[in-house]
Amino acid sequence: MEKFTLQRANDYIKKNAHQVIQDYRPGYHYAAEIGWLNDPNGFSFFAGDYHLFYQYHPYEAAPGPMHWGHAKSKDLIRWESLPVALAPDSPYDRDGCFSGSAIEADGQHVLMYTGHLNPDPEDPGKIRQTQCIAIGDGITYAKLEENPVIGTEALPAGALLQDFRDPKVWRKNDGYYSVIGSRNEDGSGQVLLYRSSDLRSWQYVGELSRSDNRFGKMWECPDLFELGNQDVLILSPQFLERDGERYCNVHSVTYMLGRLDYETGKYEYAFAEELDYGFDFYAPQTLIDNKGRRIMIGWMQMWDRNIPAAELGHQWAGMMTLPRVLNLKGNLLYQEPVKEIEDYRSHHVAFQSRINGKRSLQKMEGTRLELNISFKPLGASKFGLKVRKGKEEETVLSYDVANGIFTFDRSRSGHVIHAVPTEEGVNGARRVLVGLEDGALNLRVFLDQSSIEIFINEGVKTLSSTIYPSVDSNGIEVFSDGEADITMNKWELCHKEN
Ligand code: FRU
Repeated sequence: MEKFTLQRANDYIKKNAHQVIQDYRPGYHYAAEIGWLNDPNGFSFFAGDYHLFYQYHPYEAAPGPMHWGHAKSKDLIRWESLPVALAPDSPYDRDGCFSGSAIEADGQHVLMYTGHLNPDPEDPGKIRQTQCIAIGDGITYAKLEENPVIGTEALPAGALLQDFRDPKVWRKNDGYYSVIGSRNEDGSGQVLLYRSSDLRSWQYVGELSRSDNRFGKMWECPDLFELGNQDVLILSPQFLERDGERYCNVHSVTYMLGRLDYETGKYEYAFAEELDYGFDFYAPQTLIDNKGRRIMIGWMQMWDRNIPAAELGHQWAGMMTLPRVLNLKGNLLYQEPVKEIEDYRSHHVAFQSRINGKRSLQKMEGTRLELNISFKPLGASKFGLKVRKGKEEETVLSYDVANGIFTFDRSRSGHVIHAVPTEEGVNGARRVLVGLEDGALNLRVFLDQSSIEIFINEGVKTLSSTIYPSVDSNGIEVFSDGEADITMNKWELCHKEN
């Protein structure tokens, strides 16, 4: 049987990373040096650095036996790739070191992850998932002798042995708690809570919440944290049913607001909303930093769709979103890109005008940039902008004033990303309901070669998606049906000198 060791992975990366084709590589978002990346893991602040681990299969631009890739940063924007931290080289994680989290404990960096065993790929019923610990110094990590620390025998009745993954660990009241994704034998998702005093011996507390088949299938990558006076639960439910404009995606991410009872493990929630309305946002994870900021990063990609960069043989797939600070205002979670991104701004251009019709804005062009835009409809019924515009390509952002609907349309962006059957009727566009704020629609738009992130009205709604236009499709055009006032600021954004 093939052996996937750290040494082999690190040698492979060193030898082959130069072959990666750069055309669609991001400039200021993290992507792995070569190969496949999915979920952020172990996102944490440790010994003065931000650490980001991730699901990683270096050998192909496709999923495979998962490793934990690793990078660190002083400012959450410029990341230094480090040696691979975990390889699936132990009897309990032979087929993958699946997602998990990290925490600082007694000066050490502790990783908690899922050991994945898949003895018969024809029979998913034989999959077994358990929780494991590795301890390190910020570069090198050693797995515990006593792994797994939470085995399948610690599951409550009715929980499937093959779906038990993605522990997110935190400290509270002198102890450690971990939420773990699980699936009930009725097929639907649930989250389980465990407690430990030393991160090695764990006790089951209770079932935090369950879907009862009303809220998607398997609940992946739970994250629970306090913000304001709420306990926020973030989940990535698979195959979540659509609800109006919500969850019109293959898989979705949702946030809930409620209260966790640490004694019973019960979580009562009163509110749930989609966390990001784009096509490519999944498995986000948060940390709290030394400034007390709750910061989230997500995988800017989606399972079960084609990925043009991989199909074109570019030897890489998957990148992270911008890290975003989370804040609660009333019942709504606001997302704001970390301030540090503003240090990378250059070549400022400003534009202000009333328009009625369309206008292309030469000086605003580009493929790696930030646009800050305020639209005020002065009688306009619809307005918006087109980015990455070329002869035949365009990515369209528009707003329907009467109905308060913002639409993001990537159907003519470039290389085709095929919808899968569950997306029938979506046709490359997603919509979100959002009102004007003091009579204006304010957008922050980040373009980075093959991605677009849109923050509406201070981040009350966001849409994150991949797009694959030709490199020379870089035009910007604004348009309005009826009169509108537009104020726009543009900065180039880059730290890769190319
Ligand atoms: C979510 C996920 C996790 C799992 C990992 C495997 O994207 O399916 O549940 O741990 O990816 O790579």
